[in-house]
Amino acid sequence: MKIGFIGDVVGKPGRLMIKSHLTRLRQEHFIDFMIANYENASHGFGLTEKNCIELLGYGIDMMTGGNHSFDKKEILTLFDTYPLIRPLNYPKETPGKGIFETTILGHDTVILNLMGHYTMPMVDNPFTMIVAVLARLKEQGFKHIIIDMHAEASAEKQALLHMLKDDVSAILGTHTHVATDDLQVKDGCCYVTDIGLTGCYDGVIGMDSAIPLKRFLTGIGGHFNVPDECKSILQMVVFELDDDGRCIGAEKIKIYDDKPKIVTKAWMDM
Ligand code: FE2
Repeated sequence: MKIGFIGDVVGKPGRLMIKSHLTRLRQEHFIDFMIANYENASHGFGLTEKNCIELLGYGIDMMTGGNHSFDKKEILTLFDTYPLIRPLNYPKETPGKGIFETTILGHDTVILNLMGHYTMPMVDNPFTMIVAVLARLKEQGFKHIIIDMHAEASAEKQALLHMLKDDVSAILGTHTHVATDDLQVKDGCCYVTDIGLTGCYDGVIGMDSAIPLKRFLTGIGGHFNVPDECKSILQMVVFELDDDGRCIGAEKIKIYDDKPKIVTKAWMDM
């Protein structure tokens, strides 16, 4: 089966790229199930119900979150209604859940959301927490296990790969908005440090560059804004899993609104 994963969707430009291209991409790449990260989907911060319904309507099947999951307070009412998760390692009192279970082409599949520690909110240790969670999932018979590792530090993401590559199908990094060039299939586990944003690519992490520049030049910041007009990109990883949940191939797809499509195949570590 083939899974598509779009990283951080940033504001209206990101949503519009998905609207324009996802139906065609799902057909061209034979994608059976589509995941996206929602945490920046509503003007760069959080997710509204309106934008949630909009993205699901464009062909996304479920969405993961991160440190901005709770920026729009209405998210608190959405977890029970829509296929949304937030990082599993938030305190257990935090609303929402960090694990999503579904069946894809007859395979029981789990999508997990974890969050790193560096520059992130205070959450439980994702490395120690995932050990117990995976033991339970394996006991339940799950073989198809996909993780969104939402973290700033590349080292945290790579360390998770080395720890879990034999136990999970894919570890896809999100949060930095800047794509890394290290998509790979490591011992049957699809991995990339960061998928990169879907939205404006000519600003600063999908935002208008004026406020970040002011912050770095003067030490005085402001609220980051998604530009009304910009050059846009859609970035996603598509990976194929066999019946045992092992990854047998992956590719990175980049769609620009002003340049030709780029598809890069992952190198396979045999
Ligand atoms: Fe984030």
